[in-house]
Amino acid sequence: MKISEIKRIGIAGAGTMGSGIAQIFARKGYKVLVTDIKEEFLHKSAKLVDLFNSSLIEEGIMSEDEVEGVLSNISFSTDKAGFKDCELIIEAIVEKMDIKQDFWREVEELASKNTLFATNTSGLSINKISSKVIDKSRFIGMHFWNPPHIIPLVELIRGDETSNETV
Ligand SMILES: NC(=O)c1ccc[n+]([C@@H]2O[C@H](COP(=O)([O-])OP(=O)(O)OC[C@H]3O[C@@H](n4cnc5c(N)ncnc54)[C@H](O)[C@@H]3O)[C@@H](O)[C@H]2O)c1
Repeated sequence: MKISEIKRIGIAGAGTMGSGIAQIFARKGYKVLVTDIKEEFLHKSAKLVDLFNSSLIEEGIMSEDEVEGVLSNISFSTDKAGFKDCELIIEAIVEKMDIKQDFWREVEELASKNTLFATNTSGLSINKISSKVIDKSRFIGMHFWNPPHIIPLVELIRGDETSNETV
């Protein structure tokens, strides 16, 4: 898959990081699906995205005209079934190994075979997080700094089986 073929991005975890990562990609024109385990977290995430937009406008980094585009590019759901249509899935859920491992096992079952898998873990092993994923060549660490909508830096971390194409 070429980078230009990535159009839809799934983001799991609608907290601090997931919301910021969603804002960046939505602003750049990607269709973003943000998921979490409860509706209330999704409502909080939508408010965070509003806050990020306002702060970027205040700082003169983003124009008011961009807001509508950002908002229309983001959808929220407690159901991750929509990840099946995404070319890239970024996981920004709680920093707990067993929860991340189970999340990825479930996601691999529903995702298309070419979809890239990225975890925003701060410090857990990429190999261990992907231990229940069958095709580990498409799995990578994609570590955004906080706040992601402001800091233009992403650290990519390979697992032992991550392919060059994925990187
Ligand atoms: N906060 C930071 O400074 C920072 C920086 C870089 C990386 N990270 C990493 O990013 C990830 C998220 O951190 P955060 O600060 O955004 O946490 P957060 O607590 O703000 O958000 C995590 C969200 O994940 C949700 N969640 C839990 N299990 C889930 C599941 N199975 N499916 C979907 N959603 C689920 C929670 O309900 C919560 O809303 C962690 O791995 C963390 O280590 C955090």
